[in-house]
Amino acid sequence: MNPASPDRELPLARSVALVTGGSGGIGLAIALRLGRMGARVSVCGRNPQKLDRAAADLRAAGIEILAVQADVSRADQVAGLVGKTQQTFGPIDILVNNAGIGLFGAFQDKSESDWDAVLNTNLKSAFLASREVAPEMIRRKSGHIINISSLAGKNTFAGGGVYCASKWGLMGLSGCMAEDLRAHGIRVSVICPGSVATDFSGQSAKDQAKMLQPDDVAHAVAALVTQAPGSFISEVQIRPTRKP
Ligand SMILES: NC(=O)c1ccc[n+]([C@@H]2O[C@H](COP(=O)([O-])OP(=O)(O)OC[C@H]3O[C@@H](n4cnc5c(N)ncnc54)[C@H](OP(=O)(O)O)[C@@H]3O)[C@@H](O)[C@H]2O)c1
Repeated sequence: MNPASPDRELPLARSVALVTGGSGGIGLAIALRLGRMGARVSVCGRNPQKLDRAAADLRAAGIEILAVQADVSRADQVAGLVGKTQQTFGPIDILVNNAGIGLFGAFQDKSESDWDAVLNTNLKSAFLASREVAPEMIRRKSGHIINISSLAGKNTFAGGGVYCASKWGLMGLSGCMAEDLRAHGIRVSVICPGSVATDFSGQSAKDQAKMLQPDDVAHAVAALVTQAPGSFISEVQIRPTRKP
């Protein structure tokens, strides 16, 4: 086939991807990348204005997009999100559990509601969304689930207690999900980026120009979903070339 031919099929043509927290930062970069690879993409977030802006950007890039306002820490809203995505586009081939928040500071200064907000957004959400998509993926014997963890899921540091707990938990959940699902042809991977230049880390004293960019994480997602079916890359760690 002529690689320059306009008829050449994109690698994710006819695929459906759901990216949680796709209304900003890393999630938006992932949604854009998967869309440009030919996927129809569903994104969610809590803030409707941010969601509308992201949807407009994705549409402007020629991507078939569904934007759903949903809080991924809520089981009923996750079920609604998955249901709307499937009704609109059909079965989900790629789920990226990306939505996350960071609350930092000494653990002894954190409240129970801080703990619940971080753990429910960063960890429980991945359980809820994956549990919603798994039955259809099992029926079809294929699918990718990609969890966006962090190097904070591999390390410990002062002030990171609540966030690290959520990301270490996500590492454990990801490994067990991979074992539960691999026999069904479903590949579960976890990505651990270092600091990425987004609103999430806007307060960081680090040099933003030397930090990872959202598209660096999107690149890793693209690599995972184009892996030949006989194997899967179970874990990716991403560091910037120059230390910020
Ligand atoms: N930035 C970093 O340095 C870094 C490094 C390693 C890993 N990560 C991880 O990467 C992921 C994305 O981070 P980011 O840097 O892109 O953050 P971000 O720029 O703050 O974007 C987070 C996205 O998640 C959405 N979100 C947050 N809570 C949500 C909820 N309960 N329900 C639905 N959507 C929700 C946000 O939209 P709304 O606020 O409108 O809901 C937004 O679209 C997170 O899991 C984070 O832990 C980030």
